[in-house]
Amino acid sequence: MSGGPDYDLSGKVALVTGAGRYIGRGVAEALARRGAKVAVNDIHIDRAAQTADAIGADAQAFAADICDVEAVGAMVADIEKSLGPVDILVNNAGIPDAGFPPKPFREMEVDEWHKFIDLNLYGTMYATRAVLDGMCERKWGRIIIISSEAWRTGTNFGISLYGAAKAGALGFMRHLAAEVGPDGVTANAVALGIMDNLPGIDALTRHNPVARAGSPEDVAAAVIYLASSEASWVTGQTIPVNGGQITF
Ligand SMILES: NC(=O)c1ccc[n+]([C@@H]2O[C@H](COP(=O)([O-])OP(=O)(O)OC[C@H]3O[C@@H](n4cnc5c(N)ncnc54)[C@H](O)[C@@H]3O)[C@@H](O)[C@H]2O)c1
Repeated sequence: MSGGPDYDLSGKVALVTGAGRYIGRGVAEALARRGAKVAVNDIHIDRAAQTADAIGADAQAFAADICDVEAVGAMVADIEKSLGPVDILVNNAGIPDAGFPPKPFREMEVDEWHKFIDLNLYGTMYATRAVLDGMCERKWGRIIIISSEAWRTGTNFGISLYGAAKAGALGFMRHLAAEVGPDGVTANAVALGIMDNLPGIDALTRHNPVARAGSPEDVAAAVIYLASSEASWVTGQTIPVNGGQITF
């Protein structure tokens, strides 16, 4: 049988932020399997190099702190020189490098708020800004945000700033989609549920219809779709990838 979607990404260059491990790594590997050349970013060069080595010749490691606007600009210039202009940006870095100890809002100092907003909101904007003009000029581009169902569900887990930052990035994405749609650039997100790296997942997934936690491969499948030419009529959307944990 022929004529169906093949989600072929050959000839495309993808940048995945925070791709040194887990979800970002799984997404980078899947993009490469579909034929893309992949720029593997991480704040830790050793992690980025491990992912790039695992992928092989189609990947290259680029260290940069996504919260540093100048470092992001310099990294994108390096990627363009080595691999070519970025066609697909996956804004994956979202868990602060300094760790993520859950803390009730009333116990947080104002200084502690910034690490969530800086990475998920400003970091996403810095990376997007650095690749967007080229995408619009070439009339093809994909901006994808890795979000969390914490954007729309309140919990008592001590992740209020994380939820706020994730929701903010989705607001940005929707307006961006409206602005750059006429230039052939789409902007979308995937909102993840309980992932299999979290502690106590058996209890957390008990009421989840699929009755298991998510994996990087589950996330990568949705990202590949959004990155593909087949998804050119899908923009401004947030796709829940959550095992049915939330169904509206
Ligand atoms: N793991 C989950 O349970 C879960 C659930 C929902 C959503 N998410 C989202 O998925 C994405 C990936 O999460 P993960 O669990 O794979 O995280 P992770 O911490 O396992 O990996 C993230 C990588 O990002 C890198 N990084 C951190 N700060 C950076 C910065 N400033 N610049 C560049 N790189 C940086 C880290 O070094 C690390 O290698 C995040 O956006 C997260 O919010 C994760």
